[in-house]
Amino acid sequence: MYYPDSVVDEVRSRNDIVSVIGSYITLHKSSSNYVGLCPFHNEKTPSFNVNPARQIFHCFGCHKGGNVFTFVMEYENVCAVEMESADAKYKLGWCYDTGFGVVQSVETAFKLYKEAAEHFYRKLRSDEGRKGLEYLVGRALSAATMKSFGLGYSDGTLYDAVKGRYDDMLLKESGLFTFRETGGVRDKFFDRVMFPIFDQNGKVIAFGGRVMGDAKPKYLNSPESPIFDKSRNLYNLNRARRSRKGYFILCEGYMDVIALTQAGFDCAIATLGTALTEAQAKLISRYTNRVALTYDSDEAGQKAINRAIPMLHDVGVSAAVVDMRPFKDPDEFIKALGAEEYERRIANAKTSFAFEMQFIAAKYPNRADNPADRTAFAKEVANWMLRFRDRLERSNYIAAFCKTYGFDESEFREMVNEELQRAPAKRPAAEDSQTVPREHINADGVATQDFGRKRIEEENVMRSQNFLMTILASHPKARAVVRKYLAPEELAGSVYRDMARRCFEAPPEHVIDVAEAVSRYETVEEQELVTKMLASDEAERTEDIRRAVSDTLLKVLTRYADEEIARAKTAGDDEAVFRLTRKKAELRNLPMNLRREEF
Ligand code: UTP
Ligand code: MN
Repeated sequence: MYYPDSVVDEVRSRNDIVSVIGSYITLHKSSSNYVGLCPFHNEKTPSFNVNPARQIFHCFGCHKGGNVFTFVMEYENVCAVEMESADAKYKLGWCYDTGFGVVQSVETAFKLYKEAAEHFYRKLRSDEGRKGLEYLVGRALSAATMKSFGLGYSDGTLYDAVKGRYDDMLLKESGLFTFRETGGVRDKFFDRVMFPIFDQNGKVIAFGGRVMGDAKPKYLNSPESPIFDKSRNLYNLNRARRSRKGYFILCEGYMDVIALTQAGFDCAIATLGTALTEAQAKLISRYTNRVALTYDSDEAGQKAINRAIPMLHDVGVSAAVVDMRPFKDPDEFIKALGAEEYERRIANAKTSFAFEMQFIAAKYPNRADNPADRTAFAKEVANWMLRFRDRLERSNYIAAFCKTYGFDESEFREMVNEELQRAPAKRPAAEDSQTVPREHINADGVATQDFGRKRIEEENVMRSQNFLMTILASHPKARAVVRKYLAPEELAGSVYRDMARRCFEAPPEHVIDVAEAVSRYETVEEQELVTKMLASDEAERTEDIRRAVSDTLLKVLTRYADEEIARAKTAGDDEAVFRLTRKKAELRNLPMNLRREEF
């Protein structure tokens, strides 16, 4: 979702980074900064720094950093502008631009949804909603269950109930109504039983509405809106996350979740009418590392399982597949065989590994008789094994596979190794990150394999660039000087060049607002990098600034000169090599020239 800069800035400026981060972790004041244990990696001594003046954080251990949005995004796994905590840990005052320059507080949107939920809830228990109630009773739901899921009924009277009390723009954007060109307005949901969808903090953010017969569509869901991103929410997560079961049951439908909960499985969650997304997998991984997958027993369900398993695996969650045959879904299963039998099925759930092996094996039905099929099968599995990042884990699975499917273990291992050689891009990431420490990631985020002197030089240059960028941001006078000697193109790394351009374009006396600058970058990686480059210790005295600029500028320009010379050499342009070498030699005069400048 795109938010105008003005909104982002307003929200950011209303949320002091120290108090926001301080509501998640314990911070201690240390000189002008706050420090604490980093929530993003394991540590015993605090290397996590929060700088109140610059409104940024930076961890010297794992190098995560950014502004208040970066932190909330990383920690909560949500788009921070949309973040609004029910616990009122902090009020973000989530905003959106209604298009007429009116910034409407999110609280109003939440209020509208809450009111709508209450409206539907009341209707279900009134004469108008008798039909809905009968339907739900017919589906074996108890009154207590209906109450705890806030189920309701829509009879098309919501608009009349709320109109005039909410801004028309808000009502339009809410997705609860249809505004017709002729001027009429209708409820979007009519004659359906209503399932309110809550965010993880228990706020109503959307609805699913089911017809009571066979009409289509069976379920109508509210569209995505400023408060509803269906790829980042899960049905019933607000309650399942408090379950003591230690695992989640992931299903396909609202009714499955409700039936499971009624049967005592209070850890059931569901996606919201779509396939599992990466964001949802990550969300799940914050609460558990075990998921029982209980998707429909049809082909579509099995395919969905195949997509979900690697996604969960990638975030460290292991999945087991519950076999519900001959029934379609948990709702039908429990109705037919009861909770105890379902519990047994969970206990016997196949681990995702066995499930996937079976799935691949099914593609090669003739593998027993046909050697070519047998080889193709082994190759596919060997390739599949590459997804295990950890060598020992992979080894265990290889052994298990060979035992089950009767392959010679050493031969199969050889095959996996061949696949590894052949697909270096797929090489397990954890191994890579073990052999390539973080410092070897260059300014563009590319891992460099060079462990020699060159790497140390590169690091020196990067440190110099960081220092220089910090000075550009915080010392307008120094910026004016540097500008005379440095063009953004001479910096290594696109984000550095971009940031330098921004600094140079800023008004002459303007100190760059670091937290604001961070906001201008979209990815967490870029935000981290920008924070890192703007988080160097600041020099205070003019003489120190002059010396720092002189030293760092020299390194940065020398690197660029070398790069240019190398390029000319490659091009075979001798004249340019000569000219550039002379230019490089002239850099010698830089410190002297800088001494004449006013800082
Ligand atoms: P299913 O079609 O499997 O329905 O859809 P179900 O969950 O078994 O529903 P009941 O038991 O017939 O009431 C699974 C999920 O897919 C989404 C809904 O989120 C539903 O819960 N869905 C399905 C839609 O969004 N729209 C539809 O028309 C159908
Ligand atoms: Mn069903």
